[in-house]
Amino acid sequence: MPKTFPPDFLWGSATSSYQIEGGWLEDGKGLHIWDVFSHIPGRIAQGDHGDVACDHFHRYKEDIALMAKLGLKAYRFSIAWTRIQPDGKGEVNQKGIAFYNDLINELLAHGIEPWVTLHHWDMPAALQMEDDGWLGRASTDYFAAYSRICFAAFGDRVKHWITLNESWVMAILGYHNGIFAPGRKSDSEPYTVGHHLILAHAKAVKIYRQEFKATQGGVIGMTNNCDWRHPLTDRAADHAAAQRSVEFLLAWFTDPIYLGDYPQVMKDRVGDRLPAFTDEEKVLIKGSSDFFGLNHYTTMYAADVAPGTHVEHSVYANPGIYKDQDVALTAAPDWELTEMQWPVVPWGLRDLLLWINERYDHPPIYITENGCAMPDTVVEGEVADPRRIAFLDGYLGAVHEAIAGGADVRGYFLWSLMDNFEWASGYDKRFGMIHIDFDTLERTPKHSAKWYSEVIGRNGLA
Ligand code: GAL
Repeated sequence: MPKTFPPDFLWGSATSSYQIEGGWLEDGKGLHIWDVFSHIPGRIAQGDHGDVACDHFHRYKEDIALMAKLGLKAYRFSIAWTRIQPDGKGEVNQKGIAFYNDLINELLAHGIEPWVTLHHWDMPAALQMEDDGWLGRASTDYFAAYSRICFAAFGDRVKHWITLNESWVMAILGYHNGIFAPGRKSDSEPYTVGHHLILAHAKAVKIYRQEFKATQGGVIGMTNNCDWRHPLTDRAADHAAAQRSVEFLLAWFTDPIYLGDYPQVMKDRVGDRLPAFTDEEKVLIKGSSDFFGLNHYTTMYAADVAPGTHVEHSVYANPGIYKDQDVALTAAPDWELTEMQWPVVPWGLRDLLLWINERYDHPPIYITENGCAMPDTVVEGEVADPRRIAFLDGYLGAVHEAIAGGADVRGYFLWSLMDNFEWASGYDKRFGMIHIDFDTLERTPKHSAKWYSEVIGRNGLA
């Protein structure tokens, strides 16, 4: 039977500002924590940094022409807060506004819908130093004020807003194991950071709905990351462990938005390191997403372990603060691994989508990131990339199965448009639809529009 997807299913790709733009000191941009972190020796593989990255800041027209050639209907990118407000507060930098105006206009001129993320990890360095970044409560108001500037400047043309990208990553990788900016290591700060991120999101959404939605008519939501956890055995304890792990990873941020408070299991296990919402805040937060933004990359088996047991996880297993969870994560030995060492397990995406569908009562879901880093080589202008093809086939097939199973999945953004600065891994990990030669910055699409329409077509995405 041919697979069919909803006719208006959205097909796009995604990037973020620090990973592609470069132009780190141009046109009045202020420094943010990734600018600084990347320049601390030893933090980024190969000593890479995003000063130039893909030079998209200067080459965005060429990149948009390539997007059109690849048949993309939507493009998700992020705005660098410090291009708009160099210090994260106060004065607006008109040159920064002009850059994103040009980018948005160029996308629309090519028939590509802009999806804008307001914050993809690049906290202004001034706010980090003066107000403790996301650890400080003041940042929630600064973020809301910055968001208002963006809605006012771009909202006549931007109809899809994402407040925050992956709060879990900012909290855990930034404040627990310290492998991402700002590089702190704590067992309590992540919960404070997460709390402030949720409040910041809700404050920005309130502003959008009160001041802009009626005239601009767009939608706004949050994007969270979640890997799937499958119980290692049929034991009830392993089922509970898998569930607990997903709650610590995803429901931490999405329960307050959809159900009104943190998951009970987190309150029980984290105790007073988990801040509490006031009744007024709960009202502000509940219902503050028009859609469910999901970034998904991999799956692990989850097993229950005795409290206090030391578990040695690979960093890529994404355990979070595991002493709060007592869950051991493992991969099956026969699972294929991407260049990130992330197992390729398409059915995990299906199961996760069905889990979200059930827990949050059938929300509209957009997959705002899915993709893989794979080795690729350019031979006579062509990129040999068979494993990416298989990956896409598998994961799009899983999306189709989730829709058939009742989930309201409305779009899929492939991570990423082009090879880029992959955070602590630097430029070695290639997620792009477009190959970049980082010496010459020459762009070579890995596949043709025809290829994409075939893979999409055989997975029922007309
Ligand atoms: C996500 C992140 C992206 C990208 C991707 C691949 O966590 O939002 O910026 O790096 O992972 O690792």
